[in-house]
Amino acid sequence: MTIKAIVFDAYGTLYDTQSVAAVTEEAFPGYGEIVTQIWRIKQLEYTWLRSLMRRYEDFSVITRDSLAYTLKCLGLKHDPAAFERIIDKYLHLDLYPDAMAALAAMKNRKLAILSNGSPGMLNALVANSSLDRVLDATISIDSQRIFKPSPDAYSLIESRLRVPPGEVLFVSSNPWDACGAKAFGLNVAWIERVTPEAMALACVNSGVVAPLTMFKAIRTQMDELGLEPDYRIHALPELADLVAAHES
Ligand code: 2OP
Repeated sequence: MTIKAIVFDAYGTLYDTQSVAAVTEEAFPGYGEIVTQIWRIKQLEYTWLRSLMRRYEDFSVITRDSLAYTLKCLGLKHDPAAFERIIDKYLHLDLYPDAMAALAAMKNRKLAILSNGSPGMLNALVANSSLDRVLDATISIDSQRIFKPSPDAYSLIESRLRVPPGEVLFVSSNPWDACGAKAFGLNVAWIERVTPEAMALACVNSGVVAPLTMFKAIRTQMDELGLEPDYRIHALPELADLVAAHES
């Protein structure tokens, strides 16, 4: 089977959502890590809650609302300018250091993003990181008004790229997203950036489990949903060989 398109999740897969930690720490010294983790946990939770309630708001609204929740629940007073400085980082998230070269090595296929991000957020992020140089398309779920892991979101790959699910490799480091893509019928490579062994060590070595460890425990380990990704890799540069091997 030929892989004609490789489609990537954005946040957490190509872009490091933890890279907001410097701005959250600068705004709230001593609270950066807890703000960073609660914010991302709530951001995803709101996508699922709004999808189930059929009360869609785009990801820029959800990203603001989840940050507002986070600051409120921690009792952190702030002025509007501080809030905007933190939010702005979402348009300038760090690319994983190996992302650009890994994608450039696969330029002989269609390369795209399928993300929960709003079109405005994604276009800014992709332009600010120069990833637009290697991507053929940046697809937001916004036109479907429902978030991944809804099948309606993954169906955009075929309608936009004109490539059927069996000829697509979907790549995500988010376990819930890898499961959603698999349930839909895509070929899936899950990036396991945090191994269970590393998790176990992080728990043993810390007297008090850090917020980041808690985040990793609930959002980086494979979910028990009865769905197995086709491939388990540890970093983006492994993809080029995997795609070539898939065809032999
Ligand atoms: C995405 O980029 C939110 O990580 C998720 O779709």
